[in-house]
Amino acid sequence: MTIVEFGLGHGNITEEILRSISDHSTLYSFEVNKDFYEYVHEKLADQRLTIINIAAETFRQHVPEKVDYVISSIPFSFMSRKKIEALLSDVYSCLKDEGYFSQVLYSKRYIKNFRSVFEESKLVRPNRFSLEHIFHCEKIGHTK
Ligand SMILES: C[S@@+](CC[C@H](N)C(=O)[O-])C[C@H]1O[C@@H](n2cnc3c(N)ncnc32)[C@H](O)[C@@H]1O
Repeated sequence: MTIVEFGLGHGNITEEILRSISDHSTLYSFEVNKDFYEYVHEKLADQRLTIINIAAETFRQHVPEKVDYVISSIPFSFMSRKKIEALLSDVYSCLKDEGYFSQVLYSKRYIKNFRSVFEESKLVRPNRFSLEHIFHCEKIGHTK
């Protein structure tokens, strides 16, 4: 299985991903901030993990294969509409059929962006007190 992550931060999601994937899986994680990159690089030495200190927007140049999942917690609020659309389109093309994209955001308003790219998109709130919204999007592709 091949997974791509955008936005490492302190590596909490990264750690969870590593906990749940097999020994033969590969995780590419993109983090734009050098301090977070170095912190996680030291904290999580794992042969399945490749950390790339570069913006998620250029991920396709660094991921040489189709992937099963893309998991993102980068904020969309600082990105232009054009950048968001380009990123989602790149994510869609990079996914295998029946692959998933999950994105954590603090606003529900992006559901339209996801629905315009993915065949299936749903919004989940972990609980009613949570400020975070998680969007789960599926690329159905040609197999169904
Ligand atoms: C909300 S934090 C992520 C929290 C993290 N997943 C964790 O478990 O600790 C968002 C992270 O995305 C990074 N980031 C923001 N824009 C980015 C981009 N365009 N490409 C890659 N990383 C980005 C920030 O530097 C920050 O570390």
